[in-house]
Amino acid sequence: MTEFFARARANIALSKYWGKADRALNLPAVPSLSLTLDDLVTETTAARDGSLTHDHVELDGTLRAGDEAKTLGAFLALVRARAGVAEGAPGSFLRVRSVNRFPTASGLASSASGYAALAAAASAAYGLRLDDGALSALARRGSASAARSVFGGWVELPAGAAGDDTTGARPLHGAAHWDVAMVLALVDRGPKDIASRDGMRRTAETSPYYGAWLAAAPLLHARVRDAVAARDLAATGEAMEASTMAMHASAWAAQPAVRYARGVTLDVLDVVRSLRRDGVGAWATMDAGPHVKVLCEARDADGVAARLRGTPGVLESRIARPGAGIERP
Ligand code: DP6
Repeated sequence: MTEFFARARANIALSKYWGKADRALNLPAVPSLSLTLDDLVTETTAARDGSLTHDHVELDGTLRAGDEAKTLGAFLALVRARAGVAEGAPGSFLRVRSVNRFPTASGLASSASGYAALAAAASAAYGLRLDDGALSALARRGSASAARSVFGGWVELPAGAAGDDTTGARPLHGAAHWDVAMVLALVDRGPKDIASRDGMRRTAETSPYYGAWLAAAPLLHARVRDAVAARDLAATGEAMEASTMAMHASAWAAQPAVRYARGVTLDVLDVVRSLRRDGVGAWATMDAGPHVKVLCEARDADGVAARLRGTPGVLESRIARPGAGIERP
């Protein structure tokens, strides 16, 4: 039983992906741009195992069952189909072990690094040789943000066109392009939020502002892309906040509301604004959870982290730096 190993890192979007152009193929409706981080790593091994009658996927030491196992098995079946491995043939199923080497039980989404590492390890186990673009398109089927974790540094995932399964992310600039930090403010370990997939579906189906989001997102994305290319922190931060707020506003207007922010989330946004008033270049973004991620110059990261840590309700604050792309066989 040969084991195949892959390591991938999480990414945080500066211009946000929210909504799908094609639900079956999991194609994004809008372009997004992210920064891959060094700190949040998923390590995955996959091996074909002739004794199995279905895939065994162990995440953080727990064998997945029920709906979760079904979703993971459907993704692995897609990899088999690509590799020409007949479903149910001897040795067709995988034994997968995946571990999130996140600093703590941080509550940060791990589906991006998770599906990127799974796509890489599983395709290697089936002898499927994919270049990074094709691997990114495959990872997208698991989770669209995972397409971006194939690459290090600054990464763009274009909007997809319905029916085009080749859409993957592309690297824009390497991790060394710009010496910035994302300071992660982890807040409130309350009940699990609505999954991003369900949240974006409800937004698309019920929010009167979903159309406005679709119209605004490409323009905000272009602003982020140009500002990142120019290493202009204020322009990047302003466009990132605008994309973040437009995405969340469309979600808040869903019925019932898709709301990830808690009170403490807004308190952290106030702190970020007061940092700016004090002359520190810091801008915030949020995803499908209550945590806040703050973009700043690397040299300001310690000070920003200290201010966030001192905010009541912030459980932990960590500094993440631009990170590398996937490592795989
Ligand atoms: C708010 O990639 O988790 O983090 O493709 O349905 O798995 P699926 O969604 P997912 O959505 C991420 C949404 C976001 C913004 C972003 O990362 O661009």
